[in-house]
Amino acid sequence: MSKEKVMIFDTTLRDGEQAAGSRLDVREKLEIAHQLAILGVDIIEAGFPISSPKDFEAVDLISQEIVGPVICGLSRAVMADIDACGKALSKAKRSRIHTGLGISDIHIAGKFSDEKYGKTLDEKKAKAIEMAVAAVKHARQYTDSVEFYTEDSGRAEPEYLYEILEAVIDAGATVLNIPDTTGYAIPYEFGNLIQNIRNKVPNIDKAVISAHCHDDLGMAVANSLAAVRNGARQVECTINGIGERAGNAAMEEVVMAIQTRQDFFDVDTNIKTTEFCRTSRMVADLLGFMVPPNKAVVGSNAFAHSSGIHVDGVLKKRETYEIMKPEDVGSQKTQVVLTARTGRHGLKHRLAEMGYSLSKEELEHIYERFLTIADKKREVFDEDIAALIGDEARMVKHAYHLEYLSVTSGTGTLPTGAVKIRFPDNQVRQAAACGDGPVDAAYEAIREATGLSPKLENYTIRAVTGGKEALGEASVRISEEGKIYIGRGISTDIIEASAKAYIDAINRMVADKDDKTELKAEV
Ligand code: KIV
Ligand code: ZN
Repeated sequence: MSKEKVMIFDTTLRDGEQAAGSRLDVREKLEIAHQLAILGVDIIEAGFPISSPKDFEAVDLISQEIVGPVICGLSRAVMADIDACGKALSKAKRSRIHTGLGISDIHIAGKFSDEKYGKTLDEKKAKAIEMAVAAVKHARQYTDSVEFYTEDSGRAEPEYLYEILEAVIDAGATVLNIPDTTGYAIPYEFGNLIQNIRNKVPNIDKAVISAHCHDDLGMAVANSLAAVRNGARQVECTINGIGERAGNAAMEEVVMAIQTRQDFFDVDTNIKTTEFCRTSRMVADLLGFMVPPNKAVVGSNAFAHSSGIHVDGVLKKRETYEIMKPEDVGSQKTQVVLTARTGRHGLKHRLAEMGYSLSKEELEHIYERFLTIADKKREVFDEDIAALIGDEARMVKHAYHLEYLSVTSGTGTLPTGAVKIRFPDNQVRQAAACGDGPVDAAYEAIREATGLSPKLENYTIRAVTGGKEALGEASVRISEEGKIYIGRGISTDIIEASAKAYIDAINRMVADKDDKTELKAEV
């Protein structure tokens, strides 16, 4: 049996765009509206036509171009606003006028002047009901779909709210928007308010209840869901939760909560959730509001696992640490982020994904080196691992090994290097030397300690990955007796990478000479 639907009313282009510091031009709004239609929202609130010629143009253009969702325009309970809405929406296949006014005592006392609306609060409240009724009747001349908002319902006197709702339904309102304009409500309370509206407004069966929650106390999504649980069948929300002040309820969170917790909500939406990540990126890019990595559903870390226990669990059975599938929201697959806490299982899995199959000993060895790098970097990337593997593959037997390196350099000091090197016969020798720069000082010290001084032909250093703790890969070319030997070294410290590269090249040179000696002996 198909479930009852909760309509998704997107207000990214109206309330979302009211976020401080944001501005979309008409073309950008149209681009987002196209994507919202693909996402499957039921209603697009395209703007507030009377507020500016650009807003009018956006609502007009979206009305002409977007097929599928109902196109809605906002107005105050003022005739000129409603006329502007009616005009801007005139070309829409399906349109809605969203009108209303502030109904809490704070709003009525604060916004309604004595001269125009009466001296006492009661007089003003009675006048507000008259205005509301007149606005709805006027809007109905343009469309059969009229939504009425009772601004600041979260702080309003409930009995007055019920009274005004009954009046606007009688006047022809088909949707009742109950906004928690200031984000003041808490979920238990907001859920009860919706329940009470259903019980106390006599003609409520003629209208749909809508939740419109703001996030000032971080409860916009929780309040919207409490409303759904208590009978609201429309939720007003924005992509990425953008909007006035702390924003509106984030659509992706509301919808995924409904979908993931079907057992609790037992309702459905028309949203094609696989479009969430794409839509989120588009809105973030066009508004210039980046999505924090830990943002629920669409953040870059939303499906990234890093600690050993979690990685191990999720690789054995995804459901151990994931309640949604990344592909269901259009995200890439579950991600294992390699850090110092990832563990062997995570590293082995990534190596296998990259096509490396290592023996137990090799894995153990790589893991030790991986840990050294991971301790220095926040995240170890695939390129780092490839460099590590390449570095291992180049290791030659009986090698000289850099045990210790210290280099001092700076303005007004003579660059000095000190090294301790383990020889193929296990002896350790140390030496110190000065040079033209820190790398040269390290190389001088290596020459001093090993007693070998091949000619340095070329030296390069490059960052393997991005960021300030990137791995550096040094490459050196040395020559002796007309033969060239190339060495490479990697480290998060570029001087260390340089020293390792030099020793790697020396090891190749020595191995080459040893081979020749062995060959001669065999002959
Ligand atoms: O938050 C609010 O009350 C609003 C109304 C205009 C619907 O955005
Ligand atoms: Zn709002």
